[in-house]
Amino acid sequence: MEKLDEVLVRAKQDLSCVNNKEGLGSFYQNYLGKNGKVTELMKQMKDIPNEEKKSFGMAINNLKQELQSLMNEKEKEFAKKKIQDRIDNTKFVDLTIPSNKKRGSLHPITILQEKLIDIFLSMGFTVEDGQEIETEYNNFEAVNIPKNHPARDMQDTFYLDNGQVLKTHTSAAQNRIMKKYGAPLKAIFPGRCFRNEELDASHENTFFQIEGMMIDKDVSVANLIYFMKEMLTNVFGKQINVRLRPGFFPFVEPGFELDISCPYCDGKGCRVCKHSGWIELCPCGMIHPNVLKMGGIDPEQYQGFAFGLGFSRLAMMDFDITEIRLLNSGNIKALSQAKIK
Ligand code: PHE
Repeated sequence: MEKLDEVLVRAKQDLSCVNNKEGLGSFYQNYLGKNGKVTELMKQMKDIPNEEKKSFGMAINNLKQELQSLMNEKEKEFAKKKIQDRIDNTKFVDLTIPSNKKRGSLHPITILQEKLIDIFLSMGFTVEDGQEIETEYNNFEAVNIPKNHPARDMQDTFYLDNGQVLKTHTSAAQNRIMKKYGAPLKAIFPGRCFRNEELDASHENTFFQIEGMMIDKDVSVANLIYFMKEMLTNVFGKQINVRLRPGFFPFVEPGFELDISCPYCDGKGCRVCKHSGWIELCPCGMIHPNVLKMGGIDPEQYQGFAFGLGFSRLAMMDFDITEIRLLNSGNIKALSQAKIK
């Protein structure tokens, strides 16, 4: 029994010097392995008098258990140390340090689109999705531009093999929306449009428009002006004057170009308005009776206005962007030119 105590004391001493897994392996071999000290002691069992066998056996078992649990503790210690070492050797990023990089934001077009949608929703308009690939019928015929009409030249686009086109204007959805809702209706439909353009700082082959339509009994140009002014006041945060000049679009009669008094110089003349005090913003007009008819609406009973706001241009003004191609570039450095408020 004394020997057992001695073994335990020695074992504790040895274990305190063990500082890695291999050391733990040899410790096991030295004590509990085939020729280990404890195993040797068990072999002496046969020399023990019968009446002491039981207590000796129990003592040896206790010793084995004790050594085993000491080893387990050591193992846990190693595991902990391994984690601590990894923590000590890892370079952590401190997420709380203020960054010197520019913060991300939504794209200027997206910001503006959401703003316009909110404004029109608050005035009772429904928001519809247009599609980017359209039938020739919807893009041209249904808005009063039959085949061979010269207006098609102004809106040359990309034709697909199946005869469909990448839509040249959001007006392409007018017919579908009239058929979907019938009259009366108040809807806007923002979307991406495509044209075969000579590219320059203010012309792109891909651009964004937001179309609006209101159809009801007794709708007049006065309603058109009212809604446009409301929208502009909300966008620019101040009263904006508008003027209408005649403009030709086969799907409106009369058709207009809506100009706004320059919001930057309040009409006095500046770089943005090219010193004229006015900025051309949005083609619009009263929906042509043919267009209503093709949409299944009786022009004898209903009238409506439509507008096609090019909001690439509005975004350029709103965010001080000088080059339209930046809007599609996806180049964050270039887009950061935009003064996002
Ligand atoms: N669809 C026309 C264009 O893109 C704009 C427009 C829309 C004009 C609605 C009048 C009414 O050129």
